[in-house]
Amino acid sequence: MPAETNGSGSNGAKAGGEEYHQKAISALKDSSLFISDAFIDGQWVDKEKKFPVYEPATATVLGNVTNCDLDDFKKAIESAEKAQVEYFASTTAAQRGALLRKWFDLITANTDDIGTILSLENGKTLAEAKGEVAYAASFVSWFSEEATRSYGDTIPSQYPNTTVLTYKEPVGVCGIITPWNFPAAMITRKIAPAFAAGCSVVIKPPSETPYTCAALTKLAIEAGIPGKILQVCPTKDRAAATELATNPIVKKLSFTGSTGVGKMLAKLAAGTLKRCSLELGGNAPFIVFEDADLDLAVEGAMFCKFRCTGQTCVCANRLFVQNSVAEKFTAKLVEKVNALKVGPGLDSSTTQGPLVNKSGVDKVKEHVEDAVSKGAKIETGGAAPDLPGFYYNPTVLSGVTPKMVVANDETFGPLAPVFAFETEKDVIHMANDTEFGLAGYFFSKDISRVMRVARALQCGMVGVNTGKISAAEAPFGGVKESGYGREGSSLGMLEYQNVKSVTIGNLDV
Ligand code: SIN
Repeated sequence: MPAETNGSGSNGAKAGGEEYHQKAISALKDSSLFISDAFIDGQWVDKEKKFPVYEPATATVLGNVTNCDLDDFKKAIESAEKAQVEYFASTTAAQRGALLRKWFDLITANTDDIGTILSLENGKTLAEAKGEVAYAASFVSWFSEEATRSYGDTIPSQYPNTTVLTYKEPVGVCGIITPWNFPAAMITRKIAPAFAAGCSVVIKPPSETPYTCAALTKLAIEAGIPGKILQVCPTKDRAAATELATNPIVKKLSFTGSTGVGKMLAKLAAGTLKRCSLELGGNAPFIVFEDADLDLAVEGAMFCKFRCTGQTCVCANRLFVQNSVAEKFTAKLVEKVNALKVGPGLDSSTTQGPLVNKSGVDKVKEHVEDAVSKGAKIETGGAAPDLPGFYYNPTVLSGVTPKMVVANDETFGPLAPVFAFETEKDVIHMANDTEFGLAGYFFSKDISRVMRVARALQCGMVGVNTGKISAAEAPFGGVKESGYGREGSSLGMLEYQNVKSVTIGNLDV
């Protein structure tokens, strides 16, 4: 999971390279989507106090964004409360679903521009960025349909002439804090179900990637979603943002980010017993058994290790390969990794973009150095290319052991460490030997093993013979210290609803 700030002061920014993003911004079909303002109480707000947003491909400042303070958060929360009460009382689920559908259409129609903005601020390749826009839009589409399927129950009562009904009601104002690795999808995965349920939201977008959120907000307003239902407070001021976890008006906090920050927010939210959804760090095992289709396993590893330059919370962090096929699998993986082309995300030949910032690069470097100092072998990569932005070459290590830092700490970068293992029992033990439990993957053609291992892995999501587990219809979330709550799927809206039971007695029936 990404850290919430880059933690590197100047972010290692270098002079030069402005041309790269200026050219891309001026080529936007709709330049009004590139917005540096907050959106509070139905208005775009441009404040004098701003923070810089860096562009990872060239390590230059992409723009300066309004820095919200505590008063801005309070104002947004109060405005969101008033709007939620009025709006929920005056709309039907079908009307909210229809507005989400319009938002979906606008996001889809503006894929090129949102993709460009997303690539500029996050670094991922344009193809990946556009893929993320489609992924983000899929949550809006999904919850536009789920809005009208929020059924209650009728329950047989133990008392005579009595019936029990349940209703699902919106929790109220929701605080939403999202990460920089998916600047579009993590916004829509939270906002769409909240809106479908009848809630209002105050969003703190990631300070590394606030522009995508602003563009999506503009399109939401154009779609007809009332401005005061959706408030956006970009900030670098952590104390101001924690208002979302402490203000009694906020009834629900949804956070995606690091386990450390998630624990801190949960403690703060406990002060008013807010409901929380926490999607936190991972340390995903990726297991290749000797009976696996090795080409399929390599394809899965390439996707789930190098997607977003290794910066996803569901990335394979530890690749466990059975001894008898370890050498063969590693050779095939290295061949594919060597074919990746590292470079700026908007360059059409690039297949692997930069990391988001310098501290991201430093962490990969530290994990590689630690592993090598303890006996791991660099099969490919192992260094940063000579490029001005925040890059590290995709790297494969062999001979990795549980004593190395990479075994316990999420690298969040393009490093594939290969651990060899002997038996199924050993690998299950190693895979589960972590406080995290977000995603896990394994490859096998043996159906009994598939059923056994899928159940034995201690994680919220398991990919079997695939590295692709993220989709609007699949419940997304973790166990252990990877957090709680589920996003997407038929469960995602329930995170923004309270279940009310109504018992009607003494009926004349
Ligand atoms: C994340 O890394 O936080 C989300 C990844 C996904 O949705 O696939």
